[in-house]
Amino acid sequence: MICEKTKFEELYTFRHACKIFCKKKKIPQEDMNAILEAGRMAPSSFGMEGWKFLVIQNDELKEQLRPLCWNQAQITTCSHLVVLLCAISSLRVESGVPQRRFQRRKLPKEQEEAYIKRYEAFLKEEAPDDEKLFAWSAKQTYLAAMQMMLAAANMEIDSCPIEGFEREKVEKFLKIDPKEYRVALLLPFGYRIYPQTEHLRLNFDEVVEFLE
Ligand SMILES: Cc1cc2nc3c(=O)[nH]c(=O)nc-3n(C[C@H](O)[C@H](O)[C@H](O)COP(=O)(O)O)c2cc1C
Repeated sequence: MICEKTKFEELYTFRHACKIFCKKKKIPQEDMNAILEAGRMAPSSFGMEGWKFLVIQNDELKEQLRPLCWNQAQITTCSHLVVLLCAISSLRVESGVPQRRFQRRKLPKEQEEAYIKRYEAFLKEEAPDDEKLFAWSAKQTYLAAMQMMLAAANMEIDSCPIEGFEREKVEKFLKIDPKEYRVALLLPFGYRIYPQTEHLRLNFDEVVEFLE
């Protein structure tokens, strides 16, 4: 076992949606890089890695963003605010990017072409327009977000995934072209000032069903 079972339980128990961080405590760069690295290493459908992580430390920027994020205190009290962008245009086959992702696998040409065809057909079916592509692309970034939150918990760093924001306004403020990228999720990191809240969860049997 890589990590003791009880240790892993400690990790996901430590993580909670932290509502307010200690404004004075800054995350060391090395730890922040380890969190971002965990995100970079996350899995993505077809291995597309259609994401980008913007890291905001500047207090003025955070202050300006807060009203666009339901005025949530996490935005201005966190040490580092990570804005998870999900790719749009570069995921389309016409961009040439998917081919480059597949080429890394160094597959025989035929197999590579078959992969591209499969991918193209998948996108045609699942994401024929930018809205659907956004939905698919955003899903990938959520996996990166979870991996980052666990990496942070491992260093006793708190986090809070944030979907409560006005996406178009945030994109405009950050000068993001929605044809290229969209904001999928905001992820502030820092250190708690209050004891963590209780994890409210359904019972195991309500959530899990073993099929015979
Ligand atoms: C995708 C996503 C978006 C969320 N958005 C917000 C948010 O905008 N503000 C907030 O305070 N919490 C947000 N949360 C946190 C949840 O409310 C929280 O995870 C849930 O209530 C369970 O609490 P716990 O994580 O502390 O166990 C979000 C969680 C997820 C997964």
